[in-house]
Amino acid sequence: MSVSPRVFDLEALVRPAVREIPSYVPAKIPAGSPSRQIKLDMNESPYGPSPKARAALAAFDHTHRYPDFTQAGLRESLSAYVGAPAEQIICGAGLDDVLTNLMVLLLDHGDEVIISEPTFGVYRALIAVHGGTTVDVPLTDGFQLDVDGILAAVNSRTKLIIVCNPNNPTGNTFDPAAVERIVAEAPCLVGIDEAYAEFAGISHLPLMDQYSNVCCLRTLSKFAGLAGMRVGYGVFPKPLMPYLWAVTPAFCNISLASSVAAIASLEDLDYLNGIIARLNADRDALADNLREIPGVEPLPTATNFILMRLPVADATPVFKALAERGIFVRNFPKPSLGIADCLRVSIGTAEENEIFLNELDDALQRVRGAA
Ligand SMILES: Cc1ncc(COP(=O)(O)O)c(C=O)c1O
Repeated sequence: MSVSPRVFDLEALVRPAVREIPSYVPAKIPAGSPSRQIKLDMNESPYGPSPKARAALAAFDHTHRYPDFTQAGLRESLSAYVGAPAEQIICGAGLDDVLTNLMVLLLDHGDEVIISEPTFGVYRALIAVHGGTTVDVPLTDGFQLDVDGILAAVNSRTKLIIVCNPNNPTGNTFDPAAVERIVAEAPCLVGIDEAYAEFAGISHLPLMDQYSNVCCLRTLSKFAGLAGMRVGYGVFPKPLMPYLWAVTPAFCNISLASSVAAIASLEDLDYLNGIIARLNADRDALADNLREIPGVEPLPTATNFILMRLPVADATPVFKALAERGIFVRNFPKPSLGIADCLRVSIGTAEENEIFLNELDDALQRVRGAA
């Protein structure tokens, strides 16, 4: 006897909050695009990992062993690097993973997290996945924090305020006094995303000496060229640590190969500081060159990327014209973000930056000619 399969709507099982999350759509590689592809859309390092990290990975042959569940070696290295106690550090498979665990730690259904858009798009998705509500207190006209607005938005359901400094995608840093005032006055946790701190030469870790409600969230994806290895970490107030360990997956969320690469990178800081200096110098040179293109306005940045205004209302056609030539950057078409006329470009090698510059000039002329 054959049983006829029951037909039902599987998608109806998916939580509404998850169904509403827009899927992340990376730049499409158009059919017939040139074989040359220059990836300047994810703020990766064009130089890859440091020589010591490369050597450690080449020699790595422990794929059959589980990682150290306590992440002890990596946490010790990070402790020496940031100057914070290892017992207050916990790592994840990228900073996204640390952020995920933070949401698991804090959010019950309907709890609120304050963010200031335009900012890192992943926050919204993570908050929604974990049943939380995003409260957006937009950045001011100059992309600074609306401190009064943020403090006024805090209520009894507010668990967390995320401050991304330097901010992605705008690239700028916030007034340190504004950040400190939020930490000092907000009766909740303040998570400071320092993914690009190494480029800006800033850190909010000293705030942790004075205030008990702040944590610093960091990554080796950007300055250390380890985006593919997924190594992020956070420095948290001591009382939260047992709970953070409780929500961190038991078999460790960071692979042994990743921690080996990260530890070796942290032994190669002279090299990595050289890379940071080179990227910062190339960024400033690119910004100067962008200003030469009529109507293009690179915005102030302290990161390894530049957000630029273009002389068009909607940057999408320019974004597409660049993709057709194998140049991948980011655009932000969602009108509420207020940067639909902008493109964000990661700093590549000097050669890649030069190609981008020429292609942007060309793409703008083509798009404006066609309009
Ligand atoms: C502001 C910000 N936070 C966090 C991340 C995630 O970093 P990771 O690669 O460590 O997950 C990124 C990556 O682009 C970012 O821009």
